[in-house]
Amino acid sequence: METFEAILKRRSIRRYKIKDITDKEIKRLLEAAMAAPSAHNSQPWEFVVVKDKEMRGKLSKVHSYAWMCAESPLVIVVCGDKDNIQWIEDCSAASENMLVTAAEMGLGGCWIAARGTKYSGKDDGQVIADILGIPKTLGVLCMLSFGYPDEEKAPRTQYTEDKVHWERY
Ligand SMILES: Cc1cc2nc3c(=O)[nH]c(=O)nc-3n(C[C@H](O)[C@H](O)[C@H](O)COP(=O)(O)O)c2cc1C
Repeated sequence: METFEAILKRRSIRRYKIKDITDKEIKRLLEAAMAAPSAHNSQPWEFVVVKDKEMRGKLSKVHSYAWMCAESPLVIVVCGDKDNIQWIEDCSAASENMLVTAAEMGLGGCWIAARGTKYSGKDDGQVIADILGIPKTLGVLCMLSFGYPDEEKAPRTQYTEDKVHWERY
């Protein structure tokens, strides 16, 4: 599959088949993540790979938009060194690399909010950090749920001419 095709194929998939993702497949996702660009190539990211059902159950209850963690065989929590001023940009690039690679591998994935939201009534990233024992030096950017898709969504571009400004605004 061509990269562009995988980019269009990537959709937020929230329903998954009961089928495990192998450690080899997980490594491919993580390799894609760590191949992302980062400012000064500082690679401020760290990843918590969660397969355990009980732990995923806890993550699914963090807020009302995280329910799919309970059913997805895999959740990868993306964290970054908060002392690095561009950790959010760098970790976002790593996250998108994983989502596009998942699409290329025939997997479905979904970005689940953590940083900057208070859907739980508290700082969602902190709630996730407390569940997983993530140290205070790291910020939690997002959770990514992955699994073999049990729903179909059409690829699409969303290209909109109005969003593009040539030469100057
Ligand atoms: C920063 C960010 C936060 C998101 N948070 C959630 C979330 O908490 N739960 C969820 O189900 N989807 C979440 N999404 C997925 C979006 O709802 C989804 O990307 C958007 O509706 C477009 O659909 P598509 O991904 O299929 O193209 C999030 C996406 C981003 C980029």
